Amino acid sequence: MAIAELDEFVNKVRERSDIYAVVSRYIALNFKGGRYWACCPFHNEKTASFTISPDKGMFYCFGCHQGGNVFKFISLMENISYFDAIKLQAERLGIALPSRKKTPAELKLEQERKSLLNIMTLTQEFYHNSLVKTVAGEKCRKYLAARGITSGVIDKFKLGYAPDSWDALTKTLRSRGFDDKQLLATGVAHDKQSGAGVYDRMRDRMIIPIADINGNVVGFGGRILNEGEPKYLNTPETAIFIKGKLLFGLDKATRAINAENCAVVVEGYMDAISLASAGIENVVATLGTAFSAEHAKLLMRYTRRIILCYDSDEAGQRATMRALPIIQNAGAEVFVVAVPDGKDPDEFVRKHGKAAFENLLKNALPFVDYKIQYILARADVLSTSGRSKALRSLLPILSEINDAVLQIDYCRKIAAALVLNESAVLDEWRKFSKSNSSGKTIKKPTVRDDDIIQRSGSAIIKKAWHDGDVLSYVLATLPKEIFIEVHREILNYFEKCREMEKHPSDISAAEELSAEANAELSRILTGEVNDSDELISMAYENSIKALRRIVLKAQYEKARRETEEYLKSGDEAAMRVAFQKSLEIQKELNKLMIK
Ligand code: GTP
Ligand code: MN
Repeated sequence: MAIAELDEFVNKVRERSDIYAVVSRYIALNFKGGRYWACCPFHNEKTASFTISPDKGMFYCFGCHQGGNVFKFISLMENISYFDAIKLQAERLGIALPSRKKTPAELKLEQERKSLLNIMTLTQEFYHNSLVKTVAGEKCRKYLAARGITSGVIDKFKLGYAPDSWDALTKTLRSRGFDDKQLLATGVAHDKQSGAGVYDRMRDRMIIPIADINGNVVGFGGRILNEGEPKYLNTPETAIFIKGKLLFGLDKATRAINAENCAVVVEGYMDAISLASAGIENVVATLGTAFSAEHAKLLMRYTRRIILCYDSDEAGQRATMRALPIIQNAGAEVFVVAVPDGKDPDEFVRKHGKAAFENLLKNALPFVDYKIQYILARADVLSTSGRSKALRSLLPILSEINDAVLQIDYCRKIAAALVLNESAVLDEWRKFSKSNSSGKTIKKPTVRDDDIIQRSGSAIIKKAWHDGDVLSYVLATLPKEIFIEVHREILNYFEKCREMEKHPSDISAAEELSAEANAELSRILTGEVNDSDELISMAYENSIKALRRIVLKAQYEKARRETEEYLKSGDEAAMRVAFQKSLEIQKELNKLMIK
């Protein structure tokens, strides 16, 4: 599509997007003190510091400094790109995307994907039929019944049975017009080791279809009905089956995840199915692979709270420890449930029921507590070296807590658990945190001038947003270097707009500015409530003066130093010039001081 057409499309979506309506789709806004507030969805907080400016179409959080326009908000909430957010919002508003001619290569790829998905759907129907309608399926029906899986659950998850045959599925699919190459591409069939042709991958197994987020079946898990190896056979990675980007059950769980504002992650398909049949539906399972950052992102489209509920065996607990930093780094809040009785969630919920499992979820440990417990449980408390080794691995975990009081609290708990002297543990902790923080950059103390520069820059930007004509005066009066870097970036952008004779807008800002500058612009524009044109102008004029003073003070200081130096070196003529200059600067400064 042409650039102009794209611009028109984006503008149309933007015009029809009401930031209040968009934000309140995700979070509850409260009207207080003349504006809308909410607890920020992008960081953890108890008092609301997230606000919107309905007339400017922007949001800003005073806590975590996220900000931007309505599309930026959607992209952050949904974990999608800025452009995808525009498309999503267009879809929600029923605005058609300007159509673009697809290249032949794109068309071919799309076609291929469609036929792969077709094969998967037909395969799922084949397996499901063979489970519920055939005599051969009887043994699998019995197996499921013995595991407490009802026919309602079989229907919901479209569970199936792969008959004990080398080619039942292959034949069916061929009769539908698919060739062997396509069957291999979906992984439903295997290559024959010797000779030509293919045969069914799954034989005599219970089948669990795995869908992508849109509900398209993209792979299968096949469980052996008796004891035997391998217990599970999964579809290999294909163009449509990428384990690191898929979570089993997510397509069915999104509503419950939204409602509970939390997602439970389990290790096994059967855990997810069993919990869902017990009425706990905000559950997904990994596909026998490690939990990835991609998985976390996928879940964070629906919630920021993730509860890991892996098997209680050593392998499950180790997998939990590995997944914790991945989820944490993705920006989610992680909790851990250790299933106390029974090997996995499936066994637990079948033995103890829904309420008992919900109780486990309610008491899920925050990740720090879990890590501490994990190390303490494995520490060799009986030997001195074991205890000090445990303490050494615990100290870095304590520094992940952002609360000094809590840190000391944990020191006490650790001391008790390791039978160590409380003050010795506290000493160790202080030593550790000191040596650790010295490497970090300590936040610069805010000098008064820095503060003035920051606030004045904001006021000037606010004025220039409303009235582009002031820009040339600002830049003629003040050197650009005085502004902080993000403000400089915003002013450069304003300049560019003026050159192109365009008014700055939240859309072009989102395209032109860095995320940081964009958030700062939102902060400035969503700023004070009820600021009339008069107040904006007053703040602007005061700011110009304030910055001018800072510039002049620096010039004066320079001239004064020069005067001193020439005086020392005996260069009288130069000294007079420098002195004269300092007097002039002083005069100008005095003028600025008088109100
Ligand atoms: P059940 O024994 O049926 O209850 O299985 P489960 O759901 O409890 O699974 P388990 O905890 O044994 O394993 C967790 C997950 O790892 C399974 O859901 C599979 O995705 C995967 N998995 C388990 N065993 C195998 C195997 O032998 N091969 C492969 N490829 N994956 C497996
Ligand atoms: Mn199990």
